[in-house]
Amino acid sequence: MKKTVLVTGATRGIGRELVRQLTELGFSVFATGRDEALLESLRTETGCSGAIADLSDPAQVIEVYRQAASALGQVDILINNAGLNNRKAPVSEINLADWELQYAVNVRAPMLLSREAMREMGPRRRGHIVNVVSTIAKTSQPNYSIYSTMKYGFMGFTKCLIKEAREVNVKVTAVYPGGVDTDFRAEERPEYLSVESAARMIVHCITAPDDVVVHDITYRPMVESNF
Ligand SMILES: NC(=O)c1ccc[n+]([C@@H]2O[C@H](COP(=O)([O-])OP(=O)(O)OC[C@H]3O[C@@H](n4cnc5c(N)ncnc54)[C@H](OP(=O)(O)O)[C@@H]3O)[C@@H](O)[C@H]2O)c1
Repeated sequence: MKKTVLVTGATRGIGRELVRQLTELGFSVFATGRDEALLESLRTETGCSGAIADLSDPAQVIEVYRQAASALGQVDILINNAGLNNRKAPVSEINLADWELQYAVNVRAPMLLSREAMREMGPRRRGHIVNVVSTIAKTSQPNYSIYSTMKYGFMGFTKCLIKEAREVNVKVTAVYPGGVDTDFRAEERPEYLSVESAARMIVHCITAPDDVVVHDITYRPMVESNF
């Protein structure tokens, strides 16, 4: 039977490419994001199902998990990919709205989705949760305090989840990509990883043999040396 996957942040960038690669491999995919037109074009292109949800709203986070479980029958693989860094500034200039938004989308939403998934995968003793963190959680950079804090927090959560989920035979993978050339930043970065390469490394973790769990994977473009 086809394995089912819920992908967040699927309208653009790494998530969109993940949906393309997974549907090509025969996975049954439920995609979510906020941009209706982009989601519709992805449905047409790949045959995935999906729904719009703003992950900064906890009610919509829970609801989109229910929609995915209902559309797919069950969620075998959850990929917590949605994320943003809307504010790069010195600590003296950061504001509450920016850090609350990043907390909501980069940490709270994937934690809630992981909770919903564990409630179903745990009793089934089968499933896989993939959390897209960032190499920012392995280093430090001026003006990245909000994003770094959220991704360090997400890494901490994922490390705990890896241990809890193992006890009920559920796989958890923390993914640490370096720079990827996406809409994530305003400027183009052709020297960074392509979305195809970034997504392929995640697919590699999902398609590992049944007796393998990839706990974490770190990958970067060769131009990066901040590690
Ligand atoms: N690009 C990089 O260099 C890089 C490096 C390391 C890690 N990452 C991580 O990789 C993940 C994907 O990044 P990307 O580069 O593919 O970014 P992207 O091209 O900017 O795409 C981000 C995705 O997240 C969704 N999203 C953002 N805010 C949302 C919200 N409030 N509710 C629902 N969905 C929301 C967007 O949906 P809409 O546009 O439809 O709102 C979009 O589909 C993120 O977690 C990012 O932190 C990226």
